[in-house]
Parts: sequence; C-alpha cells; structure tokens
Amino acid sequence: MTTSYRIALIPGDGIGTEVLPPACAVLDAVGRRHGLAFGYDVFDWSCRRYLDEGAMMPPDGLDRIRDHDAILLGAVGWTGVPDHVSLWGLLIPIRRRFRQYVNLRPIKVLDGVPSPVAKATSDIDFVVVRENVEGEYSEIGGRLNRGFPEEMAVQEAVFTRAGTERILQYAFDAAQQRRGHLVSATKSNGIVHTMPFWDEIAEEVGARYPGVTWRQEHIDALVAKVVLDPARFDVIVGSNLFGDILSDLAAAVSGSIGIAPAANLDPDRNFPSMFEPVHGSAPDIAGRGIANPLGAIWSAAMMLDHLGHPEAAAEVSDAFTSALATNDARTPDLGGNATTNEFTELVLGNFARHR
Ligand code: NAI
Ligand code: MG
Repeated sequence: MTTSYRIALIPGDGIGTEVLPPACAVLDAVGRRHGLAFGYDVFDWSCRRYLDEGAMMPPDGLDRIRDHDAILLGAVGWTGVPDHVSLWGLLIPIRRRFRQYVNLRPIKVLDGVPSPVAKATSDIDFVVVRENVEGEYSEIGGRLNRGFPEEMAVQEAVFTRAGTERILQYAFDAAQQRRGHLVSATKSNGIVHTMPFWDEIAEEVGARYPGVTWRQEHIDALVAKVVLDPARFDVIVGSNLFGDILSDLAAAVSGSIGIAPAANLDPDRNFPSMFEPVHGSAPDIAGRGIANPLGAIWSAAMMLDHLGHPEAAAEVSDAFTSALATNDARTPDLGGNATTNEFTELVLGNFARHR
C-alpha cells in the first residue's frame, strides 16, 4: 500500500532553487522504500516575483497551500528587495496564518564537518525550540515625528499566556522524549515584565514534568555557554528573538550554515507545517551548482518525521551521515570540491546500497 502526500514547494531565490531538487530526489528515493509517494506543486513565490509583479506571493497564496500536507521552502532574499519585504511578504505570513508556533532546530556535529568551535565534537546533540508567532516580533508599535529631532520608534513585545505555555509545553515534551534536560532562555533581570511572566509559566509547566531537570539561564550568559561548552545541552527553549539568535549561533557551532535544518511546526496539525534549511539564498555562490544541499535534505527528513515516518527519516539521516563521513563528497563550504549534484548522488547511492 502506498501513502500519498502533496507537498507545496517554494524554491524561492538563489540557491533555494538549487537545494530543493536534491531534497525531493531524496524524498522520492526513500519514499519508494517505505511505500510513500510524494506529489509536488511548485510555487514561484520569491523576490524575483516581487520585482516582476510587486508581491512575493499572490493575494490568495496562503489559500493555495493550506490543504497541502507540508511545505518545503528553499530560501528567499535578493539584492534590490529589502529583507523585511521578503520576510513579512512570505515567511512570516505562512508561519502565523498556519499557526506554526514552534520553530525547531536540531543541532548536531556530524563526522566530516569541521566546527569552528574547538570543543565541538560528535557528542553535541541538542535542539533549539523557538517560539515562532509572537513575542518580540510583533507589528504593534509605530513611529512618530519622522525627520524631527524628537523622532521616535516604539515596538511592543507581546507574550500571551496561551502562546508562552504551549511553546514551553512543547519543549518540555521534547526534553522528556530526549535526555530529560531543558534550559529556558530568559532575561528577567533586565526585561522586567515579559520575561518574569515567561519564567513564571516555565515554573508552572516544569512542575508538570518531574522527569525533566531544567533551569533558566539569562540569554547573554547562555550564548557564551553554547559556544564554550555546547555538549552540555539537550533542549533549549526561547522566545522568538532569543530563539532566533540561539538557533543561528548553534547552527554555526555545528559547522556550516549550509547543513542546518529547521521546521516550522503546527503541532495541532490544523495546517501544513513548513520545512526549510536555515541558510539564505546565498547570492555569492548562487548559480554555480556548488551549494550544500544537506540543510534542505535534512529538513526533508524532519518533514518525514512530522508526517509520521521516523524510520524513513532515520534512513535519510544515515544516508547523509555516511556520505559525509566516508567520501570525498564535501561541498566547498565544508572544504571539499564536490558539486551539489555529486553530493546528492552519493546520498542517493547509499539507499541503493542498503537494498
Ligand atoms: P546566507 O545564508 O544566504 O549566506 C551566508 C554565507 O553562507 C554565504 O557566504 C553563503 O555562500 C554561505 N552559505 C549559505 N548557505 C549555503 C549552502 N547551502 N552551501 C554553501 N554555502 C552556503 O545568508 P546572507 O548572505 O546573510 O543572506 C542572503 C540572502 O538570504 C538575504 O537576502 C537574506 O535576507 C536571505 N535569507 C533568507 C533566509 C530564509 O529564506 N529563511 C534566511 C537567511 C537569509
Ligand atoms: Mg535567523
């Protein structure tokens, strides 16, 4: 019996368009082994579209993808289009309208991927759970007196009980299923309203998880520890802003930004979740066929997990781990000479070998 899925593909700009075909090839290959069939609908929503038509996506864009089983996104961003346009014109509407309130980023140091952090070894294995729809990234605020000396800007951070509780609960659940350790990022010594609120809810939620040992750490000290001693972490949970910074930092610790995956999840499954590599459109290498497709392939593995196929996801991760460790298949960002296609072929070859 075959289970079919409809996937909305949004390649985006630059290397976004180069890393999604490898991710789909891997999905198709692993799907054949597990009775999964993927059908893809491609949407050209991008900065290129914005320059041609004045919008990142059509007005009914979200309606066109709301019935898909999942969304795979490459990357958006291009010169001539301000980053806030590409973000607020596409990514943030998808995350918010589809209630993707969890941003999940696994951090692992893989064999064959040199980390810039000396102590980063293969015992590094943690996840950053970022709140993805509220917090510091709110539209509430405004500017007054533009152009005058008394010009001002105000931006309000919004923390709701429901939003804070559900992200903490997701993170504690994740810790319970992993090694039972959690760190909650805070800054309640300086931010005196929202962060104490976050801490209180962390206490409440934490009390429901006797099997999880946890503590809160101030974000400034915490980022230093992620660099100095990354192996001590299991789950780190943070607000939208803190989680954003932590997850990019952690991705850098694990080696190349080109390998880091991310998931934007609606854990309630009312809407499709979105899977995307952490990296951007990399205009500096776009069009040369040398982008590392691993971030996109790993994101596709997270999609398999979310769709309820952990065995298939594990096979993908075995396939890319051994491709990296045993072959001279590394792309230039990892110090090798392989092209995007050469690396992808090696990953695909590993499935064939396991037949
Ligand atoms: P970037 O991630 O595109 O590139 C940073 C550096 O890492 C570049 O030197 C690039 O060549 C390298 N790199 C990134 N991904 C790679 C890969 N898969 N293989 C090999 N090397 C890779 O970040 P940057 O340069 O700050 O942003 C470029 C554009 O991408 C901007 O317009 C930005 O707004 C956008 N962007 C979009 C994101 C998204 O769609 N989620 C995330 C981050 C940036
Ligand atoms: Mg970021």
